[in-house]
Amino acid sequence: MCGIVGGIAQRDLREILIEGLRRLEYRGYDSAGLVLIQPDQRLQRCRRLGKVQALAEAVAAEGLSGSLGLAHTRWATHGAPSEQNAHPHLSGDQVALVHNGIIENYQELRSAQRAAGHSFSSETDTEVIVHAIADQMDQGHDLLQALQGTLGQLKGAYALGVICQAEPERLVAARHGSPLVIGLGFGEHFIASDMAALLPVTQRFIILEEGDIAELSRDGVKVYDAELRPVERPVHESRLSADAVERGEYRHFMLKEIHEQPRALADTLEGRLSADCLLISAFGYAAEELLGRVRAVQIVACGTSYHAGLTARYWIERYCGLPCSVEVASEFRYRQPVVLADCLFVSISQSGETADTLAALRQAKQLGYVASLAICNVAESALVRESDLVLLTHAGPEIGVASTKAFTTQLAALLLLLGALGRSRGLIGCDEIELVAQLRSLPGLCERILQLDEPIRALAEAFVDKQHALFLGRGSLYPIALEGSLKLKEISYIHAEAYPAGELKHGPLALIDEDMPVVAVAPNNALLDKLKANLEEVRARGGQLYVFADEAVCLSETGEGYTVLALPHSAQLVAPIAYTLPLQLLAYHVAVLKGTDVDQPRNLAKSVTVE
Ligand code: G6P
Repeated sequence: MCGIVGGIAQRDLREILIEGLRRLEYRGYDSAGLVLIQPDQRLQRCRRLGKVQALAEAVAAEGLSGSLGLAHTRWATHGAPSEQNAHPHLSGDQVALVHNGIIENYQELRSAQRAAGHSFSSETDTEVIVHAIADQMDQGHDLLQALQGTLGQLKGAYALGVICQAEPERLVAARHGSPLVIGLGFGEHFIASDMAALLPVTQRFIILEEGDIAELSRDGVKVYDAELRPVERPVHESRLSADAVERGEYRHFMLKEIHEQPRALADTLEGRLSADCLLISAFGYAAEELLGRVRAVQIVACGTSYHAGLTARYWIERYCGLPCSVEVASEFRYRQPVVLADCLFVSISQSGETADTLAALRQAKQLGYVASLAICNVAESALVRESDLVLLTHAGPEIGVASTKAFTTQLAALLLLLGALGRSRGLIGCDEIELVAQLRSLPGLCERILQLDEPIRALAEAFVDKQHALFLGRGSLYPIALEGSLKLKEISYIHAEAYPAGELKHGPLALIDEDMPVVAVAPNNALLDKLKANLEEVRARGGQLYVFADEAVCLSETGEGYTVLALPHSAQLVAPIAYTLPLQLLAYHVAVLKGTDVDQPRNLAKSVTVE
């Protein structure tokens, strides 16, 4: 998704802006651009289709320099990926602007501006904003007033950074629906879509709130509300160091993040467990009382986070006896859900900025849920700020577009929620001591599973030439099969689907032949015999089976067309977390063998801040 970096300083900003863009690459993009006010006061812009590296080489070759500038990575929504559509956009040679978000009424604004004599050089929804600001300045407003006057005309979502030739002493910015932070330095200040972009230059940040407008000069930063009344915003000290988002010895961020899972899980559990019970205060002030009132749960999320929600439904209904619904946020936000009495609204999101999930939360607040709980990896995100209760996953920054450690830490957080919901009514068939013991076993268990990296790499070779793959699971392992198939399709571009194994005979069995590898997850649980019978249905039709099974499970049928990889035993509740790891590694190795862009797969974005 689009990324913004900008700054005003005493020193040359070219390399700082380029480094900022590199640190935003993980969000997903197709083109990049940069504009600087040159020492001779001219706006000089450079844009390139493709990678930030191509832009870096071009700005160096063209000798761009300046101490006031904006840079952007674009993820196409309106208009194809191309140099012309890349940001920054200019109005004449006066005003330059970068935008993240979508302007919904751009057609109407474009027609009016065309009639007033503007010509357009791109197909984007963004270009209308920069012309509107230039028009306001032509009417005698300064840059800040011109920005504020323009915002009133816009419908949609935006984070904006704007500079102009006539005012080389300031940068203005605004946020409504898309994230934007301000980085505070000494004699220099910056804007960016997230903190990671600015960690090499500062650890001190202001997080703009909805409707905020900001003015940055070399001397300081002022924040205003939508009516340009000054407002105070707290300064956050980031605990992240610049190298928290480095790849280190790993070939890809995704591999690094897969291997970070034992530590990420331990960090997520840290401070939330005593010797034999959960510390419910971890969910926030008044959590114990609020969660004690809950009689139903509604979970909403997107992508991988949605799969975490689906897994939690099995847990919450089985062990708490509470009705639990799970829905993708883009559907939930546009229907009229029936809200059960004393229902808890739970949103799950790695970034906390996913536009659909955020909109679903805002809608839920009008619908009478007992409380809203965010399970999220980013403490400063909008989702966290707008929820009543929060349980942060402590996965650390996740850079690979395909989510890995964020997912398993979400599952661990959902097990904490299970325990918290069970506190007042008692867990069914499992007590809190047992839950805590299983959670504590997780980091060590995951360490042992990650040692299977080499056999899984060898297994990946069987998938490289395939066009399709099928993933099977039953019970709480069905969402894990869904997640495994999503991982494979996201990064290797192999078409993959997941089915509850019992559903095979109702359709997908027709697809089975030697070209359709079938992956199954088979922990030692009550559904194992049922699953084995389903696998026989595949085998009888010449399918190639790859089964991740508990080491205690006897699958004597191994042989031609039946490959089994034994996993260390995992207890019932944590099995979905344990069985996720081999599926992540499988997808990773297939992608590496195929030579795809593992960390930034085509057409995908890490943080989907537009609808
Ligand atoms: C994008 C990412 C996925 C992620 C989904 C939801 O599609 O590529 O990895 O699962 O957004 O993101 P969230 O930040 O809300 O978990």
